[in-house]
Amino acid sequence: MCPYHGWTYNADGQCVQMPAHPEQMPPARARVKAYRSIERYGWVWVTFGEPQHDIPVFPEWDDASFRKIFSGPYVYKAAAPRAVENFLDVAHFPFVHEGFLGDRAHPEIADYEVTTDENGITAAPITIWQPDPDGTGQGKEVTYTYRVFRPLVVYFVKQMQQQFAIYFAVTPVDDLHCIGWMCMAMNYGFDIPEAQLIAFQDEVTAQDIPIVESQRPERLPLDLQAELHLRSDRTSIAYRKWLGELGLTFGTA
Ligand SMILES: [Fe+2]
Repeated sequence: MCPYHGWTYNADGQCVQMPAHPEQMPPARARVKAYRSIERYGWVWVTFGEPQHDIPVFPEWDDASFRKIFSGPYVYKAAAPRAVENFLDVAHFPFVHEGFLGDRAHPEIADYEVTTDENGITAAPITIWQPDPDGTGQGKEVTYTYRVFRPLVVYFVKQMQQQFAIYFAVTPVDDLHCIGWMCMAMNYGFDIPEAQLIAFQDEVTAQDIPIVESQRPERLPLDLQAELHLRSDRTSIAYRKWLGELGLTFGTA
């Protein structure tokens, strides 16, 4: 239904009702373009083409022991792969998210494994020290598993005594603009107000956005020689390589 005058359309895009003239049969010309779409995980997913893959599984979604909290949308004046790569990076935590997700006194990233297969990329175990990973006020090491399900759909689960996961899907608006959609899943902290969890994620993302928007070149370079990579960047290296193998040109260079 159009939010302006309430014109209502069927799934083929044909207008079936014009509320100002309920007795009038909408003309054939009152038609909009229809796109293949599906609702999942609280979002509407739209494709312009013929999807070769189902929507990636959010592992905790059907597990009732996990509370789900949505945050965003987050608007980036940046290429979508840049926003995704930032989500996959932990080495920036002690600097961009100091006091939130990291501490400059503990910036080290130990080696971890990365595998790429037909289901995407898995990077684990990524261990990093966090000042307050579970809201108890105690700093400790936590272990992340990152997954790249599709070029613009990614995920991590953080293993502590409990688990905290984020599923992150990015809409490419155009080559250099994108919108991020986030859903948290956690099997603890059921008494923490939702607004507090969203505010935390909003603040962390607000720390990321200016960093992502200032990255040059704006399009993610897939040539691994174009930028300098460290061992701690092996998730990014795998991501860039995989995008190259898939032939993704949108938002890449
Ligand atoms: Fe970040």
